[in-house]
Amino acid sequence: MLNNKTIVLGITGSIAAYKAAEIASRLTQAGSKVNVIMTKEAIQFISPVTLRAVTGSPVVTEMFDLASEFSIEHISLAQAADIVVIAPATANIIAKLAAGIADDMLCCTVLATKAPVLIAPAMETNMYNNPATQDNLTRLEARGFEIIGPASGWLASGKEGVGRLADINDIIGSICQVLGRDGDLAGKHLVVTAGGTQEPIDPVRYISNRSSGKMGYALAEAARDRGAKVTLVTAHTSLSEPAGVDIMQAGTAQEMYQAVQGVAPHADALVMAAAVADYRPIKAAKDKIKKDKAELTLKLELTPDILGSVKGDFIKVGFAAESINLVENAREKLKQKGLDLIIANDITAGDSGFDTDTNRVTIIDREGKIESLPLMPKREVADKVLDRVAALLSKRSKR
Ligand code: PMT
Repeated sequence: MLNNKTIVLGITGSIAAYKAAEIASRLTQAGSKVNVIMTKEAIQFISPVTLRAVTGSPVVTEMFDLASEFSIEHISLAQAADIVVIAPATANIIAKLAAGIADDMLCCTVLATKAPVLIAPAMETNMYNNPATQDNLTRLEARGFEIIGPASGWLASGKEGVGRLADINDIIGSICQVLGRDGDLAGKHLVVTAGGTQEPIDPVRYISNRSSGKMGYALAEAARDRGAKVTLVTAHTSLSEPAGVDIMQAGTAQEMYQAVQGVAPHADALVMAAAVADYRPIKAAKDKIKKDKAELTLKLELTPDILGSVKGDFIKVGFAAESINLVENAREKLKQKGLDLIIANDITAGDSGFDTDTNRVTIIDREGKIESLPLMPKREVADKVLDRVAALLSKRSKR
């Protein structure tokens, strides 16, 4: 998503300016060309040399040094940009943009660009809550600016409150979302499930599996980056929540069942990458079970089959993690659960399936056609799966 994109990163005079170096570095590493514009206040907080080093590109700090130093027109950055990101954005730049003032290079670039503009405010709580700032943000939003954050937490003033620069992952996620909003899933709503459910035995113990959530989260992010509205129904994972995605927590199979039943019938597609526990204790003990017997027998019952029971006019995609008879077992699940596609994971090697960064999958459709893919990062697998979902959705819209 970020590869070969041209991004203008505007940095203004906030204590959070040092975090802009990390943003610039992450975008550059992802393959973007990052053109940094710093206000004169920003250079009090972080040196342009740092930004030049992490981006490998000249940094603009003055209105009039650009043409001479880099021999380009002063609006060329605005024209070349796929997106303009201002992070951190102070109350001052927000006020200037709302008023349409063009007295520095960053304001000029924003006024001159046709690219989307994403603003990440960072300031002291009272400044942020001040009606003037709120009005300015509302005006910018009404003009189509995207706003991310601010977050709450520790502030430079020594107090806790709203005003912190949004988390860097969230800023990068929002950039991807904005860049992908006209993608092939624009206007579609996808529900994705992820992670392994935990079925309580007692207040401290549970039955679960080794799902990390990586496959489901990769699908959610990839769908977001192709323009979809995404609802991620997630069991416990240690992953950060993707930005720009609606999150529904579902710790147990029953909770996931309720969440999916509530949301999927209104969606265009359901992709279930979650490893839902097949069995759960019939009754969880109220108190912690004592270790006072040599043996302990747990009575288990089947969990509800979420994919098999959810009804509606949407594309249904399941996953199957198999160690033997990969294709036969997956085909059987596709038939039993009435799926449009099933993604069979080969879990015989250590590099595919549960808790890995890569996956080796075979995609099987209703007609029985098989597409076997080589080992690839889960994000690439996600895009291959979504290529198939997008094709099915486009076929349906032509019906
Ligand atoms: O999370 P990661 O570490 O990245 O790992 C990803 C994964 C290996 C967990 C994922 O790619 C995967 O394969 N998930 C499905 C695991 C599985 O074998 O599921 P299953 O065969 O039990 O179920 C088949 C399908 O029915 C799945 O889509 C499952 O979500 C769904 N199911 C299962 C049980 C149940 N009670 N209700 C369901 O809807």
